[in-house]
Amino acid sequence: MADKQAKLELGGQTYEFPVLEGSTGPDVVDIRKLYGSTGAFTFDPGYKSTASCESALTYIDGQEGVLLHRGYPIGQLAEHSSFMETAYLLLNGELPSQQEYEDFNYTITRHTMLHDQLNTFYQGFRRDAHPMAIMCGVVGALSAFYHDSTDISDPEHRKISSHRLIAKMPTIAAMAYKYSVGQPFMQPKNDLSYTGNFLRMTFGVPAEEYEVIPAVEKAMDRIFILHADHEQNASTSTVRLAGSSGANPFACIAAGIACLWGPAHGGANEAALNMLREIGTPDRIPHYIERAKDKNDPFRLMGFGHRVYKNYDPRATVMQSTVREVFEALNVKDPVFETALQLEEIALNDPYFKEKKLFPNVDFYSGIILSAIGFPTTMFTALFALARTVGWVAQWNEMISDPAQVIGRPRQLYTGPVERDYVPLSER
Ligand code: CMC
Repeated sequence: MADKQAKLELGGQTYEFPVLEGSTGPDVVDIRKLYGSTGAFTFDPGYKSTASCESALTYIDGQEGVLLHRGYPIGQLAEHSSFMETAYLLLNGELPSQQEYEDFNYTITRHTMLHDQLNTFYQGFRRDAHPMAIMCGVVGALSAFYHDSTDISDPEHRKISSHRLIAKMPTIAAMAYKYSVGQPFMQPKNDLSYTGNFLRMTFGVPAEEYEVIPAVEKAMDRIFILHADHEQNASTSTVRLAGSSGANPFACIAAGIACLWGPAHGGANEAALNMLREIGTPDRIPHYIERAKDKNDPFRLMGFGHRVYKNYDPRATVMQSTVREVFEALNVKDPVFETALQLEEIALNDPYFKEKKLFPNVDFYSGIILSAIGFPTTMFTALFALARTVGWVAQWNEMISDPAQVIGRPRQLYTGPVERDYVPLSER
């Protein structure tokens, strides 16, 4: 019995519900027995006040701008860790020892190749297909290739599927890019790091050696860390909901990719850079700020605002400093960065944005870095999907191994017609 109780008065009766306490963060009123005892549902479109599961992976305090993975602040991971180490941490709960780290790297590296038949699968797509369309299709298709690891009740099978997904995602994303530009696919190279290998598969060509630029490799790896997990966001909830029916893990991740694609979620980094380029020069910023504030104009400042962060997104802070590092390493001078800095400053001092607590999010600066590295905007969300696969599989594993797990099945507030008799066509 929980110590705290919440009381609800409904129809003249009082009901009590346990209040659960997490290790930190808001208390949670446990309403699992609400319908059974009162016959009523709760109404919470968009899940603004609903905890859909118990999780020990990631903690966000949106008011304070805090993001922790297994307790470690994102700023510390971005500075000191690597994407592979963060992946291990999210999957296993603790930072790896040297041996565990080497073994994990080895395993992931040895799973990076795709089944050869998947190469021909790409030919079915139009050359101008969006990389996210290809990712949805190819990742979903993996479920037709790896039949030896799909018993989701077997932890070893789940582990193999998780490793395959994390390992193959860079190969799949790089191939989507290569296909769009008509260049031959590059096979993975095992002496490179996870991120170095991805850069080579994307930008290398078979005709010459590809040299990984350490500063770019580091920046890219950091971007992957920053996108690795973000608790129960839309795409992660989609993966959990798909997985709650016992569906194939590759199909569940394909569902997550589909959800991530939208401009309100992963597609925002592409939209943010397009917006900054459209604004063009700092003198045009006020016009766009006015449009963002106009209730009759659907325009929003992309890369601004967040469902959870009502303070500066801690990932945006790291992104902003990474822009400078990449520009310096590649000797890039893109006026879009100056526009972004000025837009941020103007928005942060504007009463509308202050009052609504709208701050730059992770996507505000990420597009500028990715563009400087050489990625076309259409690839941005695919890179997000690559990194978020780690969070998706970690959350999926956590859900499947949770004894309280049941199929997700939200209820509704029905406002349609009540029962009525069918009228034959001749009488309508
Ligand atoms: N520009 C202008 N006004 C905004 C913006 C914005 N970017 N974001 C929110 N608002 C306003 C909104 O119009 C509303 O005003 P009012 O109260 O007068 O109706 C108020 O702020 C609250 O907005 P909301 O849409 O109810 O808030 P939400 O928590 O449901 O939405 C959001 C969060 C991320 C969808 C939204 O802020 C947005 O559309 N931002 C732009 C897209 C973007 O950058 N998305 C990336 C999110 S971070 C990456 C990720 O985690 O996937």
